[in-house]
Amino acid sequence: MAKWLDNAVFYEIYPQSFKDTNADGIGDFAGIIEKLDYIKELGCNAIWLNPCFESPFGDAGYDVSDFYKTAPRYGTNEDLKTLFEEVHQRDMHILLDLVPGHTSVEHKWFRESMKAEKNAFTDRYVWTDSIWHEPQGMGCIRGISDRDGSCAVNFFSHQPALNYGFYKPDPNQKWQQSMDDQGPKATLEAMKDVMRFWLKMGCDGFRVDMAGSLVKNDEDGKGTIRLWQNVREFLNREFPQAVMVSEWGEPDKSILGGFHMDFLLHFGPSHYNDLFRCQEPFFSSRGKGDAYEFVKKYEENYKKSQGKGLICIPSGNHDMDRLARSLHGDELKIAFAFLLSMPGAPFIYYGDEIGMRYVENLHSVEGGYGRTGSRSPMHWNSSVNDGFSTAPANMLYIKQDDRADRPTVEQQMADPKSLYHEIKRLIEIRKSHQALLSKGEITFIFAQKNEYPLAYIRRAYDEKILVVINPSGQEVSFASNIQPGENIYSTGGNIHFDNGRIIASPQTAAFMRI
Ligand code: NOJ
Repeated sequence: MAKWLDNAVFYEIYPQSFKDTNADGIGDFAGIIEKLDYIKELGCNAIWLNPCFESPFGDAGYDVSDFYKTAPRYGTNEDLKTLFEEVHQRDMHILLDLVPGHTSVEHKWFRESMKAEKNAFTDRYVWTDSIWHEPQGMGCIRGISDRDGSCAVNFFSHQPALNYGFYKPDPNQKWQQSMDDQGPKATLEAMKDVMRFWLKMGCDGFRVDMAGSLVKNDEDGKGTIRLWQNVREFLNREFPQAVMVSEWGEPDKSILGGFHMDFLLHFGPSHYNDLFRCQEPFFSSRGKGDAYEFVKKYEENYKKSQGKGLICIPSGNHDMDRLARSLHGDELKIAFAFLLSMPGAPFIYYGDEIGMRYVENLHSVEGGYGRTGSRSPMHWNSSVNDGFSTAPANMLYIKQDDRADRPTVEQQMADPKSLYHEIKRLIEIRKSHQALLSKGEITFIFAQKNEYPLAYIRRAYDEKILVVINPSGQEVSFASNIQPGENIYSTGGNIHFDNGRIIASPQTAAFMRI
């Protein structure tokens, strides 16, 4: 595994909304370059960039129409290469977003595959053998091709599913191909070519979209795991340093497939939402939440992945509600104390470091629907459009938060008590303690059903750090024979030790070397 993952702290950039330098109302590569020092100063040393390839933008770029060309609105391939170089000059790393499961209907592969005459792309997508025959349970595109067939979709109905085969093709459905048939094999080779192209240009690896979705009728993921193992072998031969992070949400599977890291997500079995995004999140000061199920599942996955790969917990992403929609004030600081003291590389979604809010009641933009409010342009300072763009406000990609008390980077940097400074401090503390880094071990020592606090010990070599997280507005305690040690971080109040109990004051997170 690439060494730099040991102390990586990622920053996710949704390029549309980060920084616009050519006044078209949409962010661009030059804007990202302009802000690299900001990201570095926060303490993040790695970037995940959402898709930046040519696309009709029916799904914000997750509907790629040319895997080899950047979308002109962000800049040219050369500009992206410059971005890679600027990132590396700062001792940082960058992952692109690989979308291997589907393309846009406008992709030339799909246009070829829609033709009635057989050609090199006939089997590039999952097609049935008759327009009257729909692929069961997958949704499909039908009636727009000369070809007599229905094409399975992978997400929205304009995103045809690339064909990596079926784990167990149904013998009664002759159109279902096996993973070892020529078509699926060629699709995989084509995707390796795409990876080769960008890795050669200088990216450090990929966040992989819907990584678990590739092989069809593959309930336990066995075929998809095999497919990714094949990709990892290719990478080990040609780009051994390439880092792979999966959007899968099931680390027990993805890490077997050779991914270095997998995200916990707002969908899937991880109970991630219990902490941040549900009616009574654990991190709310109401203190009615529950981290128990989350911890139970986390421990299960941790055991399966320990020593082989990492589990990443993001602050949010472009698909989820902004963290600051459900948490406020000190709740956010405490949530970040947790995020930045857990194993695996943390991911901070752009703007979450200043507590950027979800913008309510927006029209959907580029297939965002309810996600649009989490994708609004960054607030840098007090200049026009909060420093995001000099375009007229009505040209901005998405309307900005215009509430008077919206946070900006400038304001948060000027206030030593801000969320920005808390996060910066937390990242510094993480990076200066081996036990808190990606691979430091974790043991939960208090995580009870419907109870607070959450407590765990991180450990690496001879360093041991106790972390106590009490988001609730009440003083809470738990029995423990741990002896007090040196305080290395606290926010809110602090913890004290009394008569075999550890007591945490209301709304407190504390780290102690023990
Ligand atoms: C997951 C991406 O994060 C999301 O934004 C996208 O819409 C779907 N995959 C489809 O690619």
